[in-house]
Amino acid sequence: MAVHIYGLPIDMAPLLDIARRYGLKVIEDAAEMHGQTYHGRPCGSFGDISIFSFYPNKHITTGEGGMIVTNDDHLASECRSLRNLCFQPHKRFVHERLGWNLRMTNLQAALGVAQLERLPEFVQRKRQMGALYQSGLAGVSGLQLPLASTSYAENIYWVFGVILDASVPFDAEEAMRRLGKMGIGTRPFFWSMHEQPVFQKMGLFCGERHPVSENMSRRGFYVPSGLGLTQEQQETVIDAVRTIMDS
Ligand SMILES: Cc1ncc(COP(=O)(O)O)c(C=O)c1O
Repeated sequence: MAVHIYGLPIDMAPLLDIARRYGLKVIEDAAEMHGQTYHGRPCGSFGDISIFSFYPNKHITTGEGGMIVTNDDHLASECRSLRNLCFQPHKRFVHERLGWNLRMTNLQAALGVAQLERLPEFVQRKRQMGALYQSGLAGVSGLQLPLASTSYAENIYWVFGVILDASVPFDAEEAMRRLGKMGIGTRPFFWSMHEQPVFQKMGLFCGERHPVSENMSRRGFYVPSGLGLTQEQQETVIDAVRTIMDS
């Protein structure tokens, strides 16, 4: 399984190498990677199967839902069947296997097609917003900003995530509470898989420690990143973040 982090893809080459070496299939989670490239090649083109999300916080949305892409005709037809209750091809209402109703409605698809046409514009706007946060928050002591680029990709800033250094005497929850009091909405980072109660109840990840992920989930948060944000609103956010970091 390949994943991408917050607007920048992870380095795919080592994962693809492992998959090739051991004959594994790659499922590429490109949920947030609309319009992103890795070494110039579109994200979502690396997996045997790749997925995109169209949840409303993504660059483009259909309200809910997502998309699977593959070059493999057999996998494509399997997916079509599974999302449509596994009807027999020539005998409706007769099911060979268990499937689901995961069909996207035509109304959602029409919205998605119109959104797709605007993707380049949205990506450009996200990058503009990211650049404004980068310059406005540069040099704030104790605040780690996202990478603007790596050797293989340029950040789209799907969301603008910041991480509090260990030297900062409060955590992300407290930072978000302080910003909330100033009228700034924020979102927490994902919570680590090994610390999810559901898996712990199943006896999984017992006693495991993953300090990097634990630290990120406790000390990272997102500042407002929606496409509707104005420059003035971003400047208000920047001032508020500077204020709490100075306190
Ligand atoms: C990397 C990643 N994978 C999967 C998902 C889930 O997407 P959905 O909400 O469409 O199921 C998200 C949502 O943000 C995501 O960021």
